[in-house]
Amino acid sequence: MNPHADLIEKIKTLTKERNACILAHTYQSPEIQDVADFVGDSYGLSVEASATQAETIIFCGVLFMAETAAILNPTRTVILPHPEAGCPMADMITATELAALKKEYPVASVVCYVNSPAEVKALSDVCVTSSNAVTIVNKLPRDKPIIFVPDKHLGSYVTEQTGREMILWDGFCPTHLRITETMIKAARSAHPFAELLMHPEAPHAMRQHADAILSTGQMCSHVKKTEATEFIIATEIGLLHTLRTQTPHKSYYPLSEAISCPNMKKTTLPMVYDSLAHGMGRVVTVPSDCAEKAEKSLRAMLAMNG
Ligand code: 13P
Ligand code: SF4
Repeated sequence: MNPHADLIEKIKTLTKERNACILAHTYQSPEIQDVADFVGDSYGLSVEASATQAETIIFCGVLFMAETAAILNPTRTVILPHPEAGCPMADMITATELAALKKEYPVASVVCYVNSPAEVKALSDVCVTSSNAVTIVNKLPRDKPIIFVPDKHLGSYVTEQTGREMILWDGFCPTHLRITETMIKAARSAHPFAELLMHPEAPHAMRQHADAILSTGQMCSHVKKTEATEFIIATEIGLLHTLRTQTPHKSYYPLSEAISCPNMKKTTLPMVYDSLAHGMGRVVTVPSDCAEKAEKSLRAMLAMNG
């Protein structure tokens, strides 16, 4: 018997009664993913959030994702169950800092990873996620420099793939920075026939060891299509549950249990219940002048994704 069965039942009933939907990122804990109406990567969650008819979105992820939902679907109530579930990388750049950088490179196209504050999106030309950054940068005018914020590792990966030199901000993901060569050697020797899949937020020196560099959504599609049956997953450990749920007949090994994002793991089932039952957590809103500008760069991403 599932130890959370009672709570899950209550959450499902309340979700219907309140005309709510639960969106969860693939880095959330297994029990949160299981209770969600939709589980996806940051791109899939943006699309789902912009289209949902539900009145309330319970966003099981981190602040920048809930802000994106609030910007794309402003008539909905968006609740982040844990009020302090943020993304340290997103907090590594402010609007003031980006404005100063833009002054240095006034003609540059500004590309902003969605892992960023709404105010930074508002100063950008186009947003990207890790699943579409290469496609979108390839579509930008060739005669203009590109500013890419805030992830220097995703930025260096995009440069490798597109040949476009970019002005990079010095941001990074502390969770993917935990990946080490020792972990890679140990996992390779324990699972010699497995493919090693790594997220592009990992530093260049670690990416060299991977068989494929893929966003979380791309990992989910790749394991379905390839003939390989075993995979070492070099990204946040929550994704292992998504892969095992979506493609259960294959085998997945975490590169290391240490690749866990403390902020993604802040959300718990009781918090999801409290958000639904009592409106607890953080109601995420974005001031309208900022939201209007940020929406333009998010819509530019949606339009350039294909
Ligand atoms: P995805 O875009 O692959 O969902 O990743 C989001 C994220 O926060 C990675 O650390
Ligand atoms: Fe931010 Fe990294 Fe956590 Fe993703 S895994 S939310 S980039 S800290």
